[in-house]
Amino acid sequence: MNPQNKNDRLPIMGASRRSFIKDTGRLLAGGTIVSGGLAIPGNAHAHGSDLIKVGLVGCGGRGTSAADQALNTFGGEVRVTGLADVFESNIQTAFRSLNGKHGGKVESNRFVGLDAYRELLESDVDLVILATPPGFRPLHFEKAIEAGKHVFMEKPVAVDAPGVRRVLAAGKEAERKGLAVQVGLQRHHELRYQECIAKLHDGAIGEPIYARAYWNAAGVFTRPRRKGQTELEYQISNWYYFNWLSGDHINEQHVHNIDVINWVMKGHPLEAQGQGGRQVRKDANSGQIFDHHMVEFAYDGGARLLSQCRHIPGCWTEVAEHVHGTKGYCNISAAKIFDLCGNLVWESKAAEGSGKGWQQEHHDMFASLRCGEIPNETEYAAHSTMTAIMGRMATYGGKVVKWEDAINSDVLLAYTDAMHSLDDPAPVAPNEYGEYEVAVPGKSKVV
Ligand SMILES: NC(=O)c1ccc[n+]([C@@H]2O[C@H](COP(=O)([O-])OP(=O)(O)OC[C@H]3O[C@@H](n4cnc5c(N)ncnc54)[C@H](O)[C@@H]3O)[C@@H](O)[C@H]2O)c1
Repeated sequence: MNPQNKNDRLPIMGASRRSFIKDTGRLLAGGTIVSGGLAIPGNAHAHGSDLIKVGLVGCGGRGTSAADQALNTFGGEVRVTGLADVFESNIQTAFRSLNGKHGGKVESNRFVGLDAYRELLESDVDLVILATPPGFRPLHFEKAIEAGKHVFMEKPVAVDAPGVRRVLAAGKEAERKGLAVQVGLQRHHELRYQECIAKLHDGAIGEPIYARAYWNAAGVFTRPRRKGQTELEYQISNWYYFNWLSGDHINEQHVHNIDVINWVMKGHPLEAQGQGGRQVRKDANSGQIFDHHMVEFAYDGGARLLSQCRHIPGCWTEVAEHVHGTKGYCNISAAKIFDLCGNLVWESKAAEGSGKGWQQEHHDMFASLRCGEIPNETEYAAHSTMTAIMGRMATYGGKVVKWEDAINSDVLLAYTDAMHSLDDPAPVAPNEYGEYEVAVPGKSKVV
């Protein structure tokens, strides 16, 4: 067994701590791990020790699940020692859920409000899970690294180019400080994707010519305006529909599929052009985002990605990635490869597992920390986020957008550092009819 290879570590999922330590190495005082005869220095927070204290920032659906998945890991003790959210009721719901499943491992230290993340970072947590709407991610990530915490952060990692650059800089700082950074692009931790993309990188379909990626679905939750809410409170609650919070659904959801194609292509595209709009998204709580985008991305060497995402009920639904090459075709999400005549030439034997990556990414992260390894997924996650943002720039503006212009853009959708109270002004305001500004291709500035 090679503990450096994450797939070799899969058996630890069911193993006791004792067998984990026996299989992967001996823990020494001071967090040093001796593994396979090799001394690996523990990081600043001595994760050779048993207990890893986790703090959660953003106690909604995904954050609560991520904390649950962290608590499900093996190889040593994990506790959730702090919960932070703008809304106290969400903390209570998360606490009840986590405590119900992991009673005794969840402490009720609660931090409420827009500065809650700062208070949590001042506590002695070792690792923070950042699962707020992505508009706050660059600020929270930067401050978490400044505070010396390991980070698991949800995708996307930003909503605009200044945010992406801030995340890239904080990721470098994490590397310098020996802090782990993992990002919730969980397909990277699913064996079927790992096997399939390794085959593609080995030339199974020759040179990629073009790829297709889809997140076509009916849409997501809406949280209607409630009486007595401030404008900022309403926008943070109904965050999906505001660009400064979600970056539009091309960024918030479709980033998963775009990221897979970047992984296949071993890099980000160099330019994008596309079209999109709002065909059915017209009700009072639908904020600013489009309900469909279709983007053509061009990669170095000429390969293209045709990317579609749609939030319209009653239409064809598909969430998947495909790539076509000089020697064959691959349905990546089905983990199947075909030759040019359509014959199946390879299929992953790994268990079908949509959603399994959510647990596996935590197994991988905690196993890495306990082995003294420091994963850092910042760069590809930031580039995939920037690719999605470049796609939005293309559909909002209706022009060809080059990577260098996109990533160097100074358009900042909101200055979240200055938000401390729900009474603060919101970054966008409705007109007299309660409508928000929506991009008009050909007329809007590129955002
Ligand atoms: N990897 C995946 O497959 C996956 C799946 C779902 C969601 N996500 C990501 O997880 C993140 C959260 O999504 P969700 O579905 O849990 O949303 P959610 O609305 O259920 O939860 C967000 C939580 O963050 C809180 N919050 C908002 N602003 C905050 C701030 N400034 N400080 C502290 N708390 C704040 C909200 O009150 C809420 O409790 C998003 O980035 C989303 O894209 C990832």
